[in-house]
Amino acid sequence: MLNKRLLCIDAGSEYCPCYLAETGDCITCSILRGQDFCDCNWRGSCIYSEFVWNDYVKKNSRKFYSSKILKKESLGNEVYLLKIETTKTLARQLKQPGAYIFIRGEGLPQFFDVPMSIMQANEKEGYVYIVYKVLGTKTKRLNESDNILIRGPYWNGIYGLNNIKTLKNNNCLLIARGVAQAPTLLLINKIVKNNNITLILDKGKLEDNFILNYLSHKNIEIIFIDTMKYKEQEYIKEIMIDKKIDFVFSAGSDIFHKKIIELIDEIDPSINISATNNSEICCGEGVCGACSAHLENEGSVKGCKTQIDIRELIKRRVNID
Ligand SMILES: Cc1cc2nc3c(=O)[nH]c(=O)nc-3n(C[C@H](O)[C@H](O)[C@H](O)COP(=O)(O)OP(=O)(O)OC[C@H]3O[C@@H](n4cnc5c(N)ncnc54)[C@H](O)[C@@H]3O)c2cc1C
Ligand code: FES
Repeated sequence: MLNKRLLCIDAGSEYCPCYLAETGDCITCSILRGQDFCDCNWRGSCIYSEFVWNDYVKKNSRKFYSSKILKKESLGNEVYLLKIETTKTLARQLKQPGAYIFIRGEGLPQFFDVPMSIMQANEKEGYVYIVYKVLGTKTKRLNESDNILIRGPYWNGIYGLNNIKTLKNNNCLLIARGVAQAPTLLLINKIVKNNNITLILDKGKLEDNFILNYLSHKNIEIIFIDTMKYKEQEYIKEIMIDKKIDFVFSAGSDIFHKKIIELIDEIDPSINISATNNSEICCGEGVCGACSAHLENEGSVKGCKTQIDIRELIKRRVNID
């Protein structure tokens, strides 16, 4: 039988129970999936009871907001920074590592929604920063008006969040390539006080490492590396050994994650790893199935809502052995 003990990122939040409870597909609650035993790894609230108390209907879903774009800046090579007005509450909810929103230009239909990581959120003034690269149809039309539709908060932009929550006095190596520097900043802000951070930046196809303009922390060692070069990958291994690294954050594509996992495994496979979520995310609500991944033990898993072991996922997607 498939192991269905999975952690849903929304479990216990104000958006739980969701549509999946109504359809008998809750990621976490076995009772709501029609089984006659409870197997949820209790995490502070009972989804089944919440569903019963809510008269067997889901809680309210996330809404769209029309927001002002307060600042647009071209960072070169078709990369843009947007400062977007939000409510103070939404900005506060978006301060967690892995936070992202859906955005689309005002006037466009919902299928133009794109998931975008939060780089920085200011809850006092009510705004967020995102940085995006223009790739195809949806991102080409993001920048056309002064207003933007946003939907959020969403939190599953990073796999391995438990490894981040437990960080204290750890030696952390964060490796960020290209536009994936954006979610890395949010993570740095969260862990910088209580951990030693070494940050490897690879600008990839960017003109510059834009994150540097937003890094005010003095106590981070920053190293610039072209992570695609064999010699420099050897240097990453040296850094892991010299600095006794016990946590790695990989921010880049799945191929990038694969390489970082291989480097870690050559040094010490017990080093904890978290990584950006590169699933193709469409609804973000566990409904459309665009993000589904087939895992060996868990079967088909919705990557937008489920915390997945990045090693397991990359093994399936990029074929590591
Ligand atoms: C949680 C999350 C956070 C992200 N944060 C950022 C960010 O901060 N900055 C940034 O530039 N990009 C980010 N992305 C990727 C961004 O959403 C895609 O680049 C964008 O959706 C591409 O759409 P398109 O129509 O312009 O391109 P397309 O031509 O449709 O696709 C170009 C590439 O983007 C991928 N893609 C297409 N649609 C999606 C989708 N719905 N979800 C994920 N990938 C998709 C495709 O697989 C393809 O590789 C993030 C994706 C996720 C899932
Ligand atoms: S994006 Fe729709 S189910 Fe995950």
